[in-house]
Amino acid sequence: MIVLGIESSCDETAAALVRDGNRILSSVVASQEEVHHPYGGVVPELASRRHLESILPVMRQTLSQAGVGLADIDGVAATRGPGLIGSLLVGFSFAKALAFALEVPWVGVNHLEGHIHALFLEAQPPPCPFIALIASGGHTGLYFVSSPMSMELLGQTRDDAAGEAFDKVAKMLSLGYPGGVVIDRIARQGDPERIRFPRPFMEKSSRDFSFSGIKTAVGRYLREHPDSCPGHVADIAAGFQEAVVDVLVYKLIRAAHSKGCLRVALAGGVAANSRLRERLVRDAGAEQMEVYLPSLQLCGDNAAMVAALGYRLLAAGRRGRLEDDVFSRSG
Ligand code: KG4
Ligand code: ZN
Repeated sequence: MIVLGIESSCDETAAALVRDGNRILSSVVASQEEVHHPYGGVVPELASRRHLESILPVMRQTLSQAGVGLADIDGVAATRGPGLIGSLLVGFSFAKALAFALEVPWVGVNHLEGHIHALFLEAQPPPCPFIALIASGGHTGLYFVSSPMSMELLGQTRDDAAGEAFDKVAKMLSLGYPGGVVIDRIARQGDPERIRFPRPFMEKSSRDFSFSGIKTAVGRYLREHPDSCPGHVADIAAGFQEAVVDVLVYKLIRAAHSKGCLRVALAGGVAANSRLRERLVRDAGAEQMEVYLPSLQLCGDNAAMVAALGYRLLAAGRRGRLEDDVFSRSG
């Protein structure tokens, strides 16, 4: 069964064709980075307009890359939320209309569950149960995944998402947008120990996160140390990244212990962070845990994860209805 996945929840227009839920035939992601770069963040109105312009070319490229025709599509899945309403509407309406025209079943999927399903597309998917940390630009949460279709939220951020903190700190450091990947790169030249930023909630038993305090501490530090010397920005980036990574790794490992589960996984855009990956492998490995990391192209937003989840939902008999609408927030 070939499922077409469509993803347009934020600033990536993506389509993918996946066979039987685990073999990617093609996956195309059109980034809108250059549209939003001058503003230092995603401008929702510009994002939805660009999705409208990109969706057909992305779809055509996805078909041609896979050597597949419209008639070969057996089902359609599209992200329903959470995300930006105007952006979601473009992909979701496109998917509905296409499925209607092709007379194939379709289903709306949850973007966050999609990020977890990226892990099931890997050559070595994590066996269930496992604990997953989803860290993206809009969400940071810990999940107990007891089966591919059943995940329990254990804790989440009370303010900024981890990726959002990366983006905001990058903006403060005039490093541009999106910030995560730039901080990741620049931090490699810095000393993570020279400037110590707070680790919110580390000492508490809570499974929740808070990142706005770290971001504020970086802003305060910059105001108090206006003179930059060579290497200063790299040290700030490294110190900030280390604080975020410390909290994420510690909470993920502790959640795994508390559920008596020795398997941990990362998902979402921040899962691409090289220091987070390295530290999780080291620290969870030291506690005899198995660590599962998505490949870099499956960390950020993509439609292969949407198609993978959609396949499972369709196979379980789930169907979208024409009156289904998108939603902006989870929960
Ligand atoms: O999952 P994603 O592509 O979109 C959302 O669902 O939000 O995540 C995007 C987020 C952005 O905040 C971006 O800065 C962050 O993931 N990100 C990174 C890295 N690559 C992307 N954060 C830290 N290190 C990276 N290498
Ligand atoms: Zn995402």
